[in-house]
Amino acid sequence: MNEVTKACEAFKVLLEQQLERIANMNTEKKDFSTQKTITIGVVDGDGIGPIITAQASRVLEKVLADEIADGSIVIKQIEGLTIENRMACGKAIPDDVLAEIKTCDVLLKGPTTTPHGGTMESANVTMRRELDLYANVRPVSIPEKNIDWMFYRENTEGEYVLGSRGVELPGMAVDFKVTTDLGTRRIARAAFEYARQNGKTHLSVVTKANIMKKTDGKFTAICHEVAQEYPEITVEDYYIDIMTANLLKEPLREKFQVVLLPNLYGDIITDEAAQIQGGVGTAGSANIGDQYAMFEAIHGSAPRMIERGMGAYANPASMIKASAMLLRHICRPAAAERIEKALDACTVEVKSDGSAATAAEYTDALMNLL
Ligand code: IPM
Ligand code: MG
Repeated sequence: MNEVTKACEAFKVLLEQQLERIANMNTEKKDFSTQKTITIGVVDGDGIGPIITAQASRVLEKVLADEIADGSIVIKQIEGLTIENRMACGKAIPDDVLAEIKTCDVLLKGPTTTPHGGTMESANVTMRRELDLYANVRPVSIPEKNIDWMFYRENTEGEYVLGSRGVELPGMAVDFKVTTDLGTRRIARAAFEYARQNGKTHLSVVTKANIMKKTDGKFTAICHEVAQEYPEITVEDYYIDIMTANLLKEPLREKFQVVLLPNLYGDIITDEAAQIQGGVGTAGSANIGDQYAMFEAIHGSAPRMIERGMGAYANPASMIKASAMLLRHICRPAAAERIEKALDACTVEVKSDGSAATAAEYTDALMNLL
């Protein structure tokens, strides 16, 4: 078989699998307000993951103490999502770990290391796909600068879904980007619903539809279709390049409220937005599906901090913020608010160069404010 024929065969399989994925998209939502027992899985991850996750767990256990005692909340530590174990099993998420994860309702997950090159997929990408966590929700708020942004990033499609399954021919490599009607409609719906329920009146749809005509073209068109049902919300289209500039442009940026984007653009712009807020260490992230949800920091596992022996100085604020988002998701807004207020009030600084408090010291101070 020649190289082109082989690549076409591979592409055919991918297309068929994607059609199957769409056919299996689940739309039934779990209702946590009535569920008797909720299981929260805690997954440590790699690098600074175990350090900051342990701190966030302490906070969760404190605010949920009564419900843990009466059994309505179960916290389950899940081992084995480490780079060493994943490499040894040759799987982004080993089967037994995934099975454990699926026994939980929601997860608090530390960052996981992704190997460069090769074919091993990022554990994050695998988890988002396996649990169908289609909405990546990332808030950025800087009250003193009049900034209150909520990013709704599509989390299961785009460049990510086949990112480890591109094809190589002699002298050439090709990756694929996938956008589906159902996949776009559900993230658009989630963003508009958030806007409506939170009294937001402005939503930006951000793509590069002038260049990625099929996929981003579809994304934009479907977002506008959904927008018809939300006449109270002003919708504006921006291209991702100018949007990255606009986030730095005062006072224009103050008008942005909800920002809806495909996967890769959402990945990039939310790091920028987090940096504007004070650094990626300050931002939490929710990955929400109809059945499962996973909460994490927006940053990676910071292997260089571990190499330098500075892991203890990793900032746990991102993971603690993620736990507050988790609590809101499982209908525990009062507990979430306690954490959010303590985060706002905690003045202890953590610095990655080791010149300030450790993760544990910061958390001690924060827990005193709960
Ligand atoms: C994120 C991260 C992930 C992503 C990585 C770890 C796969 O950057 O959650 O933003 O690219 O989505
Ligand atoms: Mg990212």
